[in-house]
Amino acid sequence: MISLHAVARKAARQLSQTTHQASSSRFNHTASRSSHISTLLLNPELTEEDASNELRWITQEVRDTSSKLMAKGKLPPVEDDRIQEMVERRSTGEPIQYILGSTDFGPLTIKCRRPVLIPRPETAYIFEKLSSAILSSIPPLTSSKRPTKPLDILDLCTGTGCISFLLSRLNPLSKVTGIDNSPAAIQLAMMNNQELGMTDKVTVKFGNLFKDPATLLPLDGSKVGLVVSNPPYIPYDQYQNLPSSVKHFESPSALIGDIDKQDGQVKGKGKGLEFYERISEILPDLLADQGQLEQVGWKGIPRTAFEIGIGQSEDVMDILKSSNVIGRTEVWKDQFGIDRMVVGWNH
Ligand SMILES: C[S@@+](CC[C@H](N)C(=O)[O-])C[C@H]1O[C@@H](n2cnc3c(N)ncnc32)[C@H](O)[C@@H]1O
Repeated sequence: MISLHAVARKAARQLSQTTHQASSSRFNHTASRSSHISTLLLNPELTEEDASNELRWITQEVRDTSSKLMAKGKLPPVEDDRIQEMVERRSTGEPIQYILGSTDFGPLTIKCRRPVLIPRPETAYIFEKLSSAILSSIPPLTSSKRPTKPLDILDLCTGTGCISFLLSRLNPLSKVTGIDNSPAAIQLAMMNNQELGMTDKVTVKFGNLFKDPATLLPLDGSKVGLVVSNPPYIPYDQYQNLPSSVKHFESPSALIGDIDKQDGQVKGKGKGLEFYERISEILPDLLADQGQLEQVGWKGIPRTAFEIGIGQSEDVMDILKSSNVIGRTEVWKDQFGIDRMVVGWNH
């Protein structure tokens, strides 16, 4: 028969072993954490605080993915290996949004894939502001003057589709068509459309701004109430000085605004305004008559809204006014106090 003392000694031994295992696993965990942080800090764009936050996001993402796979009855990859691989990618400067696979954009989560431009917080901010302006300029839904048809919006240079989805989500009475000439962007925007469950309100299609403007219109060929865009607008000279996380991972054709309008090739010099000039030139082919719009309840809404780069507001206002469609413009600031959008009305 085993004595009570023997049971107590065995229990004490087990407890000591367990405590030893737990503290050694804590030690390993702490050691691998500090090794991941050191690897992340090889990226000169990160501070210690950034590295610590990003390691937490990476770990969370890996765990979420494992849980989803397990819920589907699939065996996930080894978590430590996945974390190590993502940390190494980040250490080489790859943007965290590509590594995590998504980013927040206002109330939405948008999928991100290389080399499609990652949606920026200032873009979300300024287009949320546009949405509020549209909603506040139409009569309330209880009024007999309320809109009787959805507002058709054209989002030129849609990329991930982020602006199309945001405008559609915030303005339920709208239908948006997003256009891009990058097959990678179109594929990603279509995935986002499915994921967000917005295919009945947003259409994504391939189109080139410098080709026949009729090919940019919604599928039924009708002109639209509002044209928006966040086009490539960085002057070539400034592009040279962008951080490597932008220059080496995001597509140059999503960023550089100095291109030859005939062949789409990058030009050496300029102010990054080619896309605004082209959009302004084709506005009469894209925008429905103001009278037509007012008849269906969309009186007083902006007809154009373009994101702009630093120092471009005066030029873009002049370009828009030269279209003879836009009579009045305003410049709106982003959350950082920088001129970020030129908004245009017929009069
Ligand atoms: C600055 S990104 C904007 C993406 C997205 N709208 C956003 O705000 O994140 C510009 C986009 O314009 C697209 N683009 C470049 N040249 C184009 C062209 N000629 N016609 C249509 N889209 C073009 C690029 O593929 C890229 O997706």
